[in-house]
Amino acid sequence: MRNPIIDIGAKELSYEIREIVEIAKKVKNYGKEIIWENIGDPIAKGEKIPDWIKEIIISEVKDDSSYGYSPTKGLEETREFLANEVNKRGKAQINKEDIIFFNGLGDAIAKIYGLLRREIRVINPSPSYSTHSSAEAAHAGAPPLTYYLNPHDCWYPDMDDLYKRIKYNPAVSGILIINPDNPTGAVYPKKILDEIVDIANEFDLFIISDEIYCNIIYNNKKQVLLSDVIDDVPGIALKGISKELPWPGARCGWIEVYNSDKDEEFKRYIDSIYRAKLIEVCSTTLPQKVIPKIFGDRRYKNYLKERNKLYEKRSNLAYNLLKNIDGVIVNKANGAFYMSVVFDNTYLNGANEIKINNKNLKEFVDSLKPNTHDKKFVYQLLAETGICVVPLTSFCTELNGFRITLLESDEKKFKYIFDTIAEKIKEFLE
Ligand SMILES: Cc1ncc(COP(=O)(O)O)c(C=O)c1O
Repeated sequence: MRNPIIDIGAKELSYEIREIVEIAKKVKNYGKEIIWENIGDPIAKGEKIPDWIKEIIISEVKDDSSYGYSPTKGLEETREFLANEVNKRGKAQINKEDIIFFNGLGDAIAKIYGLLRREIRVINPSPSYSTHSSAEAAHAGAPPLTYYLNPHDCWYPDMDDLYKRIKYNPAVSGILIINPDNPTGAVYPKKILDEIVDIANEFDLFIISDEIYCNIIYNNKKQVLLSDVIDDVPGIALKGISKELPWPGARCGWIEVYNSDKDEEFKRYIDSIYRAKLIEVCSTTLPQKVIPKIFGDRRYKNYLKERNKLYEKRSNLAYNLLKNIDGVIVNKANGAFYMSVVFDNTYLNGANEIKINNKNLKEFVDSLKPNTHDKKFVYQLLAETGICVVPLTSFCTELNGFRITLLESDEKKFKYIFDTIAEKIKEFLE
């Protein structure tokens, strides 16, 4: 090449939730059946969409207007419906112009970070969903900047740590929260969100709240949205249908912008996000058309309730099977459909091992030369049992452990998976 063409941020782009798939495929070639517990796609794990939802989609498919472009921000009536849902809560008040649709939140996330000035940072939680941390780091051309989620305190943010990292780094202009959280399954109480808003107020920051799982909450935890606590702070909530409907293949998500009128710089930033969408024309039309019909249907609440009951049952089962193992820190998931297990560092050394009985598979796994304890655990677990989870260190954290989903719908298989994992953790840490 005449010039170096690769941006300095490109090396920050990684997505090990999918990268582990390549390794699992190779393990499969050795004849091992894989149990996919790495990816948060309820459809891939066999969840069924109710007929009444399909009927609504079918009727829109039959309407020619579903095949056209939509307005750049999204369909007017859908944005009106969603703005009204926010306003009904009686806190932040928005209108349809404060909502912009994207081709999935992945699209929104790329634009949100991509349009910030390079030297400006958004502090991410650690662990963090890697699409956020990678996109933010790639934009900055530097490793992610993070605050600590504490596994000894229900995975809540360490507020002291967050405060200090903001106070002593003037480049930080935004705080990311993921609530309910991926990968930890934590749901934040109002007190924590209020404190984050206070910090944003004190340092004149904006808040990004990824709420894609906001209707997947259980174990009697209460849903508190950014719009409930935001006051006058500029903020962006990210919402979507990938997990909730669930329809990840629709590639449909949206942002709700709060208080853009309260800060001129923030307003111009949001406008730049809109313009980036403008040059792409618009986002997928069909899913936008069905949102008010599905969300507004009297059966929808009950549908979510039933699903949440299932996740709750699995969350408790998983927790009870893992909580008493020596050398692990386990928290019950209260939202989303993931659980993260942390290995106590004092149990980790070069000798940790799961025995792999198949000689060829053992050679393959050894050849991967994992550079963290948790990668070694994940690869060896995969080779010996076929269970595919994601190393926790892939989520922008130094904590060793793994993330597993709560999506397996066959109860017997679910129990088998967690029993097997419990046994293999004991073997690895002994
Ligand atoms: C916290 C979080 N945000 C965003 C996304 C991406 O959603 P989408 O399918 O809308 O791109 C995911 C997907 O797993 C997620 O877990």
